[in-house]
Amino acid sequence: MGVVVPGLVVGYDDGDAEVFPLSFDREALPSLFAAHVAALDRRYADLCTAHGLDGVVVHSGTAQKKSAFDDQYWPLVVVPTFRHWLPLAVEGCALWIRPGSKPVLFLNVARSFWDGPPEVESDHFWSAFDVVEITSPAQIREALSRSVGRLEFVGEDVVFGGALGFADDRLAPDEFMRDLDGTRVLKTPYEVACHREANRRAAVGHIAVAHAFYDGTPSELDLHLLYLNATAQDDADAPYKGIVALDEHAATLHHVAYGRRRGEAKTLLTDAGAACMGYHSDITRTLLKVRGGAADVFAGLIAAINTLQQHLVTAIVPGQPYQALHDESHRLLASALVSVGVAKAGVSADALVISGVTRKLFPHGLGHSLGVATHDVGCKLVAPKSDNPFLRNTADIAVGQVFTIEPGCYFIPSLLQEARALPEGGGLDWSVVDALVPFGGIRIEDNIHVTAAGPDNLTRPSLPDEALRPRRS
Ligand code: GLY
Ligand code: MN
Ligand code: MN
Repeated sequence: MGVVVPGLVVGYDDGDAEVFPLSFDREALPSLFAAHVAALDRRYADLCTAHGLDGVVVHSGTAQKKSAFDDQYWPLVVVPTFRHWLPLAVEGCALWIRPGSKPVLFLNVARSFWDGPPEVESDHFWSAFDVVEITSPAQIREALSRSVGRLEFVGEDVVFGGALGFADDRLAPDEFMRDLDGTRVLKTPYEVACHREANRRAAVGHIAVAHAFYDGTPSELDLHLLYLNATAQDDADAPYKGIVALDEHAATLHHVAYGRRRGEAKTLLTDAGAACMGYHSDITRTLLKVRGGAADVFAGLIAAINTLQQHLVTAIVPGQPYQALHDESHRLLASALVSVGVAKAGVSADALVISGVTRKLFPHGLGHSLGVATHDVGCKLVAPKSDNPFLRNTADIAVGQVFTIEPGCYFIPSLLQEARALPEGGGLDWSVVDALVPFGGIRIEDNIHVTAAGPDNLTRPSLPDEALRPRRS
């Protein structure tokens, strides 16, 4: 059953192969989605009460110009608040939410002859909204003006907000945005199903890339394009630009300057996701295909980080601060460095943490909230401690959260220089460290849903370690 909405193409049709196959029952989507919208309505009722509002108007977004010197635009990045309500990526739309009433979707059906309409992945969401077709913001303004009450505008395009009648020089206040961002932290069953499916889709790509790496000599660009192909997405659809790093490039945390050179490589770090209905996955695996000498130490370090990553997942307990897990990840990394011989003989794990050297080898945060934005902000309402400057999750763990657990260990030349300058060289065996530099670094990242019954790893069922081992020849 394809719903025909003027100017929009639904991504599948009766009788045709599905463009976006789902691993869960498509028939379940309408009821899951209805419950999702009902939950959001309740959250917005509390939000409006707390901020003395009668409703909220949310902009879908405006495509950003790439440069003042050209007339090209970046693909639209939908405002997360809008995407939280529905999986529609059309600019110039707005949602009018009045808790207790059916939300109104002002659907922009104006099209220029330059652009085609975007496909939507599924049509399950339309009936949750009163859809009003518009071709200009003035029509939204006119509709809003017929209603009394205090509204807040949410969006980054204040000019669009101005066209709707909101002051055109102001964004919503920080206190309101903080509470609004908080409405995205606890996931509804609909959202969890989408995250699980986004993980399944990404796993297909990770497995394809792993075997291409083991079986040949692909370049980073080859692997990136293979990943996109296997996951049926282009760069603009992907939650973030996939990170594909061979050898020492794995020491660049966000390496997306893909090398074109094909040839023998030792290490592959792939950090890449996929989306389902706008919900993201964010998965990293690190593989090694050589053995002997320093490679054996690096293999030991990958295995140790894989083990400690899974240990951290089991240590997720509602009520505990996520930051405590981050601190624990440094203690576990220190133990791994001792056990594989990266630490100097006789140096304890505690001494490595105290020296600060683990923060030179693992400079980023243990993870972040995940949702319709890859680095969603609702779990970072307070700043981290000064020794965890890049930690993006400072919330207490709660049932319903979805976040990443992504410890790492990297041999980053500039940070190694700082580590070497620590007293006693930070306690590391520098001959071992120097031998590991050509391998780049390691990150292992899964997406976790916190439930009352324990952590629900959304990634591993689709991406078990066995699927990433070389096939026997
Ligand atoms: N892909 C970026 C991150 O893992 O946070
Ligand atoms: Mn990642
Ligand atoms: Mn991540």
